[in-house]
Amino acid sequence: MRLAVNIDHIATLRNARGEGVPDPVEAAIAAEKSGAAGIVCHLREDRRHIKDDDLTNLRSAVTTKLDLEMAMTPEMQAIALRTKPELITLVPEKREELTTEGGFNIVAHYSSLVEFVKPFKGSGIEVSLFIEPEKQAIDLSFGAGADLVELHTGKYALQHDEENIAREFRRISEAAAYAKNLGLKVVAGHGLNYGNIAPFGKIVEIEEVSIGHAIIARAVMTGLAEAVREMISIIG
Ligand code: PXP
Repeated sequence: MRLAVNIDHIATLRNARGEGVPDPVEAAIAAEKSGAAGIVCHLREDRRHIKDDDLTNLRSAVTTKLDLEMAMTPEMQAIALRTKPELITLVPEKREELTTEGGFNIVAHYSSLVEFVKPFKGSGIEVSLFIEPEKQAIDLSFGAGADLVELHTGKYALQHDEENIAREFRRISEAAAYAKNLGLKVVAGHGLNYGNIAPFGKIVEIEEVSIGHAIIARAVMTGLAEAVREMISIIG
């Protein structure tokens, strides 16, 4: 199973000061050097983390695979077709949410989705839909011309007792097998972390996981000791 690293929160940290560090491009290069199979970023309508220039710079720097998460809007469609990431992932987007809260509501948006996907065919950009691990959403993704589905693991990640964890894991596992059988590529993500990722190795249909917050949070803590030592050595 491959790992794609979402570097949005490097930009969140940079934006806290409105200056140039930490740099999402530097983070993307470091992630690739450490074995990441892809770099993910979400250009939100409100540009709260990644900005337009970041996307342009990431496009130039990323050599593995750039996955642009985006809302299904004409603005984002034009940006994606111009920027040419290897992959776009369509996600629902609400201004007030802290992070993407649920899968894409395909039932409500099916006919617009079919039209939205068309210009990407033959463009060299694959289309993924971020959906709940449910048969209907998978069938509609396939019908709309998606190349991949990203199964939302957020509910799994939120469970605490073993029975509920097992139930949500089964749901993802069954959905992965169903989607793969239809001919879709299958990836998964949201809320995955160092404590809950291990069982995913058993789901052979899931080719890749997309992980952001846990990795960036871990990087801050594992890097802090060295950063403090370095500053003290300069102070003398
Ligand atoms: N996949 C999708 C579609 C997302 O929107 C996000 C969050 O940006 C992730 C994966 C990564 O989630 P997390 O930051 O919880 O690892």
